[in-house]
Amino acid sequence: MEIFVHDTAFMIAYYRAQHESVSKDPYASIWPGPGVKPWIDSFTEQVSPHDEILHCLRNRFFFEELQQLAAEPQPLLVINLGAGFSMYPYTLPSEVVTVEVDFDAVAQYKRAKVKSFQKEGILPHREVHFMAADITNPEEQAAIIETLETYKGYKRVVLIEGVFFFLTKDEIGKVWSFCNKILTTEDRVMCVSFEDSLLKTPVFKRLTRYFSEVLKSDHNPYTTLPHSYYEHRDGFTLLKQESGFQLGQKLGVMNSNLDSMELLNEHFYVLSKI
Ligand SMILES: C[S@@+](CC[C@H](N)C(=O)[O-])C[C@H]1O[C@@H](n2cnc3c(N)ncnc32)[C@H](O)[C@@H]1O
Repeated sequence: MEIFVHDTAFMIAYYRAQHESVSKDPYASIWPGPGVKPWIDSFTEQVSPHDEILHCLRNRFFFEELQQLAAEPQPLLVINLGAGFSMYPYTLPSEVVTVEVDFDAVAQYKRAKVKSFQKEGILPHREVHFMAADITNPEEQAAIIETLETYKGYKRVVLIEGVFFFLTKDEIGKVWSFCNKILTTEDRVMCVSFEDSLLKTPVFKRLTRYFSEVLKSDHNPYTTLPHSYYEHRDGFTLLKQESGFQLGQKLGVMNSNLDSMELLNEHFYVLSKI
């Protein structure tokens, strides 16, 4: 199956490639073809010019979190749900094992492309399993569990980045049940969502209009979640929370005077399994 150039995962890879020193992703530029640029331009114009840097900051946040965990003595198993064209394995130490899950078209395409990039010497070799599954479907989750069983004694980190917006609250609940099932004490979940207050902003209205009118993707639930959703998660404790805008100011790449009503500011959460 062909992947369309306007797929959001391609757009995000393009963003990350524009500011490698911020995103810390030196491999993002190998993905997007020239077809993605008109979509980026129309998004910038019709929705927000700040999404590019915010997506780089998101990658930076999770890259640094993963890097810290990878430096610990326990071996690390990263389970990236809705992985898209995220490239963490290739910048993390080679001992880190990754299980990437996405829909069949993305998983197959990425597996084949990574293989050819490695053959050409563009990408280093890493232990990555590219799995095709709907992460909200308990029957399809079973195949993921089978793959994880090979890795005993690993610290497990589930990463869910840029996905909750596209799932209903009921589907998100099924992903949490899955996390509860596969994780043990001190394992992590790292995830991203928009906070409920964004619903009232002009930029959010433009975002939803763009998805339904331009991308013809009006079946999206456009889910936002309050911070309390993470503060009171059964079986988990919230370790860390930061927004893209906060990180951008800390790193000096975003101006603190920017109007928060104009930012699609995502919040990043790190939770530990109790
Ligand atoms: C916006 S992209 C984000 C990609 C990547 N996580 C990143 O941040 O660069 C969302 C990805 O989630 C995948 N996705 C969405 N719903 C999914 C589901 N129910 N099961 C598996 N993958 C899903 C999409 O195919 C897409 O690759």
